Amino acid sequence: LARYAVIGNPIAHSRSPQIHELFSQQTGKPLRYERLLAPVDGFTEATAAFVAEGGLGLNVTVPFKRDAYALAAGRLTARARLAGAVNTLSWRDGAWHGCNTDGVGLVSDLLRLGVRLNGASVLLVGAGGAARGVLQPLAEAGCVRLHIVNRTASKALELADAWRSTGVSPQTRVTAGGLADAALPGGWNLVINATASGLQDAAPDLPAGLYAEGAAAYDMMYGATPTAFMKQAEADGAALMADGLGMLVGQAAESFFIWHGVRPDPAPVLAALRETLM
Ligand code: ATR
Repeated sequence: LARYAVIGNPIAHSRSPQIHELFSQQTGKPLRYERLLAPVDGFTEATAAFVAEGGLGLNVTVPFKRDAYALAAGRLTARARLAGAVNTLSWRDGAWHGCNTDGVGLVSDLLRLGVRLNGASVLLVGAGGAARGVLQPLAEAGCVRLHIVNRTASKALELADAWRSTGVSPQTRVTAGGLADAALPGGWNLVINATASGLQDAAPDLPAGLYAEGAAAYDMMYGATPTAFMKQAEADGAALMADGLGMLVGQAAESFFIWHGVRPDPAPVLAALRETLM
């Protein structure tokens, strides 16, 4: 049986095995998908051991996405290079090849929810790896305006500068600033939370008045109940609030496609997963 796994630390909580097993049943592609716990300083050794046991593909999660990027240097897709991180490794021709499917997962989930990205003005909250990974797919989906805000404003400014210097999607105007910026304008069609604030069950410290009429709020985090960011967005007048479970399933579907050449339907898998969260 073809072997795949998700590698991280911690890893016990990962839902990827369940998602890939459901995709396998749906598409009739037989596979074995495990969890791999690697020591924080032992990523490369763990991937080598997995290959020696016949492993063909890895999903990579916290804290190893940068390590995976380094491991696949020279064999990265444009998406992975622009994201600066790898979440999908494929073993081919005796080497690891790296891709990043997080941004595609986000965009496909936004489209599933009926959020219009073409022509949209988007406020992206956060300037870490999660934010960086979604810039290209959002720009290529037709967003005309992307404003990055972060608790540490300098990191948002650096990310916006780095993005502009790539020259990708110049039709998208990318700017940056601080989180609680009093001058932060409203009128956003979509506000995305890419911060880690949800880990403390808190919402980022945003000013009120951000949402345009009919606007959406998307939290990359997810949970059994609406997240703190979703509640904040509802109070601030957002018309639609969603958590990141659909992004998780969407990135997995794209990884599955890279490995198996078939694009599974994420909808029934998302419904099944939502049920197990309740
Ligand atoms: P990731 O790769 O998941 O993006 P990261 O690189 O550690 O992780 O970035 C975490 C992001 O969450 C950062 O934008 C961080 O803001 P700072 O750069 O100011 O640290 C943001 N963050 C974490 N906790 C937060 C909180 N309580 N409120 C607002 N932003 C927070």
